[in-house]
Amino acid sequence: MSSYKVLSPLCVFALLTAALLLCLASDVEAQSPVTNEPDADRGKALAERVCSNCHLVSDNQTEAVADVPTFREIANQQHQTPGEVMARIAIPAHPMPVIPLTKRELEDLAAYIMSLRSE
Ligand code: HEC
Repeated sequence: MSSYKVLSPLCVFALLTAALLLCLASDVEAQSPVTNEPDADRGKALAERVCSNCHLVSDNQTEAVADVPTFREIANQQHQTPGEVMARIAIPAHPMPVIPLTKRELEDLAAYIMSLRSE
């Protein structure tokens, strides 16, 4: 009987720990498809929503604003890098507006734009 009294809180603790571990494990599983790598597909989807009013963001798009560089042109500028592209989005040259974006979104956009580079 006395050993039962000692074990019981331990059992409860063990059960709670097991439950917690299970929760954590299923969380990790649920999140596994999401990586921290920049994702060009997400960047493309975002660009089609946010940037296509002005830029020609993909070959599917037929209309954009004249004199705004297309994403393909931006990608193919000499010595273009993802970092440079991100900087140009984060600190745009007039008349491009400042667009509030997360770091992840900037990385995705840069990955997408750089994927259009032809060399
Ligand atoms: C309101 C119109 C507008 C929107 C919306 C816009 N841009 Fe621009 N963007 C411009 C213009 C105009 C320029 C050219 C600025 C200049 O003269 O250098 C530019 C330039 C750029 C450049 C630099 C190009 C270079 O030659 O170095 C990048 C990169 C860029 N935009 C990315 C984006 C991305 C990504 C988005 C969406 C998140 C976006 N822009 C949304 C108008 C826009």
